[in-house]
Amino acid sequence: MTWDVFVTRPIPEPGLSLLRAQCRVALRESRKIPTREEILTGIRDKDAILCLLTDPIDRAVIDAAGPRLKVISNYAVGFDNIDVTYATEQGIVVTNTPGVLTETTADLAWALLMAAARRIVESDRFTRAGLYDGWDPMLLLGWDVHGKTLGIVGLGRIGQAVARRARGFQMRVLYYDAYRPPAEVEQALGVTYVPFETLVQESDFISVHTPLTPETRHMFNAEVFRRMKPTAILINTSRGPVIDEAALVEALRERRIAYAALDVFEHEPALTPGLADLDNVVIVPHIGSASLETRAKMAELAATNILAVMNGQRPPHLVNPDVWDRRRKG
Ligand code: DGY
Repeated sequence: MTWDVFVTRPIPEPGLSLLRAQCRVALRESRKIPTREEILTGIRDKDAILCLLTDPIDRAVIDAAGPRLKVISNYAVGFDNIDVTYATEQGIVVTNTPGVLTETTADLAWALLMAAARRIVESDRFTRAGLYDGWDPMLLLGWDVHGKTLGIVGLGRIGQAVARRARGFQMRVLYYDAYRPPAEVEQALGVTYVPFETLVQESDFISVHTPLTPETRHMFNAEVFRRMKPTAILINTSRGPVIDEAALVEALRERRIAYAALDVFEHEPALTPGLADLDNVVIVPHIGSASLETRAKMAELAATNILAVMNGQRPPHLVNPDVWDRRRKG
């Protein structure tokens, strides 16, 4: 039977073409974030939804879909926008798009690290403003990257890709993760596990790659900023609420830490008051995976996840494998 699929926003064509070849696709054409009402209406009587990290897929939305809903395919690796527990209870498969965006997101984490360390954005603004009147030994001094200590919080796929890039800069790499990978992984990457406390105190750069969970919400708060080096630079390409943004604004304003570079925000898309007024922060609009190649691969994968379930095959990236296993047994 042909499936009806609700796609909440335009995504790169390879994904849409794949879906259209086998399903009836209801594409919401606007690039603006859908309202709750639009999601509640759009999902009604659909077999699958292809949604984005900006779409809260909670109990009410899942209930609004009705009994036909079988797949929630998130166009993202993070899935904190979805009530996975309720979807699992309802026997609905939840999928995501890991792997294809790993290297691209690690590239951006490094771009932000370098931009902060060498004050690239400030320098660009300064030069464009016509303020450059000749070489100056004291102008826009930043911090060296090579030979410094990098602390990685969350050594999943992206954290590992960030660690690999650090080799070229001869850095000492520390990491903290609640789940430690096998020793071979640590050795191959040349990284050392330390408790969070130690990482915070010893790192010159801290790059955050942990998913957002109740445990990681506000993992970086006023107390943690007090324990970081005054020269430390904090980079976040994971999820905004991992950092208490009001406390970060305060820490940056008082130079308790040197700099931050953020791709994600606590109340996205809104910025905490004061953040955009600071010179010692680089802010970009959640573009970690935003390369032409990677966004196309994410679209293909999000579509493939839906089509696999429709055709009775295990989808490439299941968030709740229990549901799939139950379906197979049942
Ligand atoms: C994700 O996939 O979770 C990123 O935040 C966007 O690509």
